[in-house]
Amino acid sequence: MSLIRDKDYGTPASPSEKNVTVEIDGFKVTVPEGTSVMRAASSIGIEIPKLCATDSIDPFGSCRLCVCQVEGGKSYPASCTTPVYEGMKVQTENAKLNQIRKGIMELYISDHPLDCLTCPSNGNCELQDMAGTVGLREVRYGYEGENHLKAEKDTSNPYFTFDPSKCIVCSRCVRACEETQGTFALTIDGRGFDSKISPGQNEAFMDSECVSCGACVQACPTATLMEKAVYEQGQPDHSITTTCAYCGVGCSFKAEMKGAEVVRMVPDKNGQANHGHSCVKGRFAFGYATHPDRLTTPMIRKSIHDPWQKVSWDEAINYAASEFKRIQEKYGRYSVGGLTSSRCTNEEAYLVQKLVRAAFGNNNVDTCARVCHSPTGYGLKQTLGESAGTQTFDSVMQSDVIMVIGANPTDGHPVFGSLMKKRLRLGAKLIVADPREIDLVRSAHVQADFHLKLRPGTNVALVNALAHVIVTEGLVKEDFVKAKCEVDSFNKWRDFVAQERNSPEASEIHTGVPAEKVREAARLYANAGNGAIYYGLGVTEHSQGSTTVIGIANLAMATGNIGREGVGVNPLRGQNNVQGSCDMGSFPHELPGYRHVSDLETRTLFEKVWGTKLEAEPGLRIPNMFSAAIDGSFKGLYCEGEDIAQSDPNTQHVAEALEAMECVVVQDLFLNETAKYAHVFLPGASFLEKTGTFTNAERRISPVRRVMPPKAGYEDWEVTQLLSNALGYEMNYSSAKEILDEIASLVPTFKGVSFKKLDELGSVQWPCNDEAPNGTPTMHIEEFVRGKGRFMPTEYVPTSERSNSKYPLILTTGRILSQYNVGAQTRRTDNVAWHSEDRLDIHPHDAEVRGIVDGDKVSIESRAGVTVLHARVTEKMQPGVVYTTFHFPESGANVITTDNSDWATNCPEYKVTAVQVIKVAGFSQWQNEFQAFTEHQLSMLESAAG
Ligand code: SF4
Ligand code: SF4
Ligand code: SF4
Ligand code: FES
Repeated sequence: MSLIRDKDYGTPASPSEKNVTVEIDGFKVTVPEGTSVMRAASSIGIEIPKLCATDSIDPFGSCRLCVCQVEGGKSYPASCTTPVYEGMKVQTENAKLNQIRKGIMELYISDHPLDCLTCPSNGNCELQDMAGTVGLREVRYGYEGENHLKAEKDTSNPYFTFDPSKCIVCSRCVRACEETQGTFALTIDGRGFDSKISPGQNEAFMDSECVSCGACVQACPTATLMEKAVYEQGQPDHSITTTCAYCGVGCSFKAEMKGAEVVRMVPDKNGQANHGHSCVKGRFAFGYATHPDRLTTPMIRKSIHDPWQKVSWDEAINYAASEFKRIQEKYGRYSVGGLTSSRCTNEEAYLVQKLVRAAFGNNNVDTCARVCHSPTGYGLKQTLGESAGTQTFDSVMQSDVIMVIGANPTDGHPVFGSLMKKRLRLGAKLIVADPREIDLVRSAHVQADFHLKLRPGTNVALVNALAHVIVTEGLVKEDFVKAKCEVDSFNKWRDFVAQERNSPEASEIHTGVPAEKVREAARLYANAGNGAIYYGLGVTEHSQGSTTVIGIANLAMATGNIGREGVGVNPLRGQNNVQGSCDMGSFPHELPGYRHVSDLETRTLFEKVWGTKLEAEPGLRIPNMFSAAIDGSFKGLYCEGEDIAQSDPNTQHVAEALEAMECVVVQDLFLNETAKYAHVFLPGASFLEKTGTFTNAERRISPVRRVMPPKAGYEDWEVTQLLSNALGYEMNYSSAKEILDEIASLVPTFKGVSFKKLDELGSVQWPCNDEAPNGTPTMHIEEFVRGKGRFMPTEYVPTSERSNSKYPLILTTGRILSQYNVGAQTRRTDNVAWHSEDRLDIHPHDAEVRGIVDGDKVSIESRAGVTVLHARVTEKMQPGVVYTTFHFPESGANVITTDNSDWATNCPEYKVTAVQVIKVAGFSQWQNEFQAFTEHQLSMLESAAG
């Protein structure tokens, strides 16, 4: 293993399809027109000295170290800003060029600390390298003149430092922040000698707009912007490429290591989902993996009020297996079940569902996608024929109009959010449909053309109104519909949406969005050229989540926006492997590859390979498991990597269900909320400790590679295998590779997927099989997966969760950039510096009538429960709507969410809860009880330690 750093060609690749041939230092090279001299030279191994250029950002031409000589030219142009042309002849090295470069380096070094030996960049510093490359031997100007050596260091960011004394004002950081990240947090302040890099208005990094993505740190050629970890641990000595375990973007990273310790995570330039970019979570928030809260010894206990007992793996596994067997003997085969997790790898999810179906002998398996994107699976399967998004992320660069519905990409899917912003800066139009003023509505150099600020719960009415305009104003792409869709279903849908009750004017009463705005937005999307829809949990987590997904697919089909680059229907998956856990058969009604358990042919196929008989009836969904537990018929649960006690709605109901069970087995990193109700704790492995694959929101399967040994001795799939064997159903895999091979043999869309292929291609988008050996970036090109696209009417049925005089406000929930889901990982990192508690956002008007000011403690009461948070008064909310995140268990966001759920999939209606908000002095009864229960459980854990 060695440290493999990506080659830096100095300037980005030219997109031109036309080639030109040039001669550099006597060597001929053919490159795309528009390529810089620097890149053309680098492509044949001639590395021209450079400082202000790097190939992730556009050239700037400020340092002039890269001067070259062009035959016939009089001056010495910068090779980074000079494009090649046919027949051009260039010299990159001669005495004159070297003299110019030495002079430049002398100037830089005369104003640079000479502490190379103790500098954290020592051994990996471009300035140092360039001094060597140009052969700098003396600095004629001396070191005593006016300089910046006493400039004060900014250590405010928890992850990196800014030491302006080392800055060469190359502006790579400024350009990375603008071009790659799109935040515009940095500027060059002052002129000439006085110019300096400044976050915001001469603020500290933490006080500026900076979102800590780290792009500037990566771009900096000196130690000016540097990871604190490198200061502490020194330069890494080897790297291993793996995939981020946070959100559904699935960024590829090089884990740069020293021994078995991660020094830093560097986004992989070859990563096809992220192209070398990252967000604060993936790049910096990996410290949870070595947090002291990690539990690495198996534990058991008879009752949840007993102290935990640390035991050997054998003892824990045998105890869990004997409990499940006892329960099944006493209460029957269907009294137990299992949960897979979207945080786990495909191989792990596959094995857990296999254990449930083969070892438990029932179909009681479900996954956390139940509570996020199950409506996507249903809605897209019904209309398009495949339960997945249609595009690559890069496809957005071809979009003319982007419609974002119920998603907040800059917080939830930050790297894709940055890419989308880049396209918007280049001129694409933007429609945002969201109750809140999310960042995309108005941020640096980005402004939505339309913000359809709808009331929570009225997505279907809005989508129908958009469709009404498209149908009644003759904006349907008739040719597309005739050629590719079921005409009967289209006719029925057209007649339905054309009805006056679906017009923008009639819908305004529900949505609150002015009719004319809806009409203009519909025209913009339908006439887009390339119109793409991106949506998130603001669409799915509703009682009509599936209906909205169907409505979105209808819109895309009617306008011909499917089946090519720049268009499509794109669900932004929340967690890293939501797509994968669904693909792997984690739902109770589907075997891997979305095939219904009632289908005899599918069952026969699996029965043959698995060597067991399979149930034809779907099993219990998560909410059914809870109800059955409370009724007394469901008694045992194997829960891998999911924290249902925090993430699922109506916390009291979940807690009651867990308490009613006789054996809850939790396999996780920490004593999470669910583990507080567990009888067996099996220590899990972090993504750094395991091998497998994740599948992101673009159906991209990426490799997860183990960079350090599992802290508890086993990878998660090995633990599932041990449990299955103890239950009497034998599994004999010797590696994750063998599991993936079995998946490929059983799932047609995975037929061509293997670790070998992933090593070759980096990643691959399913379907990957004989027809598409290198995967499928864009779906439904020739025809829809189901043959003809199916339109379905989408009747708007208002949610039963209405506001009234007792509960006059609507609460909606979401997430924030620095935290992730239930926060179990990010709360155990320095990301708490940005978000250390969940707050309630409330509009100034609603706050004022309640006498609430910023920072007040407020109680939020719904029909389900009460919790207390601090208020944040903000105009980003609309009157009548309040908002909170759910990253901290003590916030109890799910104490107030209700049991309402999507009609088709039971996805909870997290986004609409009628509440009353009042100013209070203390915490709620639930919070006090939660605190006492947590203390009790921690004491049960301490007894085990003692
Ligand atoms: S901080 Fe680094 S990247 Fe930014 S101008 Fe200074 S040396 Fe260049
Ligand atoms: S960390 Fe990211 S957002 Fe912050 S200044 Fe650097 S590039 Fe900009
Ligand atoms: S955008 Fe998502 S996948 Fe990428 S680094 Fe951030 S959390 Fe990880
Ligand atoms: S690298 Fe070309 S001008 Fe700086």
